[in-house]
Amino acid sequence: MIVVVGGIKGGTGKSIIATNLTVIRSSLGKKVLLIDGDSQQTAKDWSEQRDDLGNKCLWITTYQEGIALKEYVKKNKQKYDDIIIDTAGRESDSLRAAIAVSDVLIVPFRPRSPDLGTLKHLEKLIQLMNPINPKLRILSFLTQADFKGADNEDSIKIIKKYPRLGGTNLSIGSRKSFPNAYTQGLGVIEIKPKDIKATKEIMALHDFIYKKRT
Ligand SMILES: Nc1ncnc2c1ncn2[C@@H]1O[C@H](COP(=O)(O)OP(=O)(O)OP(=O)(O)O)[C@@H](O)[C@H]1O
Ligand SMILES: [Mg+2]
Repeated sequence: MIVVVGGIKGGTGKSIIATNLTVIRSSLGKKVLLIDGDSQQTAKDWSEQRDDLGNKCLWITTYQEGIALKEYVKKNKQKYDDIIIDTAGRESDSLRAAIAVSDVLIVPFRPRSPDLGTLKHLEKLIQLMNPINPKLRILSFLTQADFKGADNEDSIKIIKKYPRLGGTNLSIGSRKSFPNAYTQGLGVIEIKPKDIKATKEIMALHDFIYKKRT
């Protein structure tokens, strides 16, 4: 399955999600290709860091952008069980290219107005891309969610006002173990001591995306 982690807001946690899904899929024995479609190369750096620290990468990581990204996916998709594409936090050729060739677009939103303000723009992009990839499944969810207060719930309600964007009740909390794992080139399911809550949240997201397809 080809999954693109996208959206048109920076810093939401796309690369954190892409790297964590890569670890989970690989741990399940899947042959995974991680495509970094962002010139910041946060996902590629993470794989390199993992290698440098002596932790084996069971997946292939490559940096591709725009049309080249699309062609690369088309040419290589038969070789992998899973392709995970990380994109930049803006409307870009790479995001459009990835949307054109993916099965699923997942979009993290922080429970904050500037993030939710991009919903209408994302909806327009999805509308525009629909004739190119009418089968695309879209899942939106919260990241860096609060531990208390009403913002999470309110944000989910707002996201669900955009039915094309596939709002879910899934939520990844704001947890230090995500950046900690990233720094070590790990996924949050691999860190010690184990962060049970973070593991549960990322596994719930994983299961929702890949359900009946694992
Ligand atoms: N669930 C989380 N809990 C705590 N910190 C997080 C979480 N997710 C991401 N972060 C932190 O937020 C910052 C942005 O995360 P990340 O780089 O994954 O976002 P991004 O959407 O890929 O950004 P960009 O749009 O620049 O590519 C990083 O410092 C990351 O460690
Ligand atoms: Mg990123």
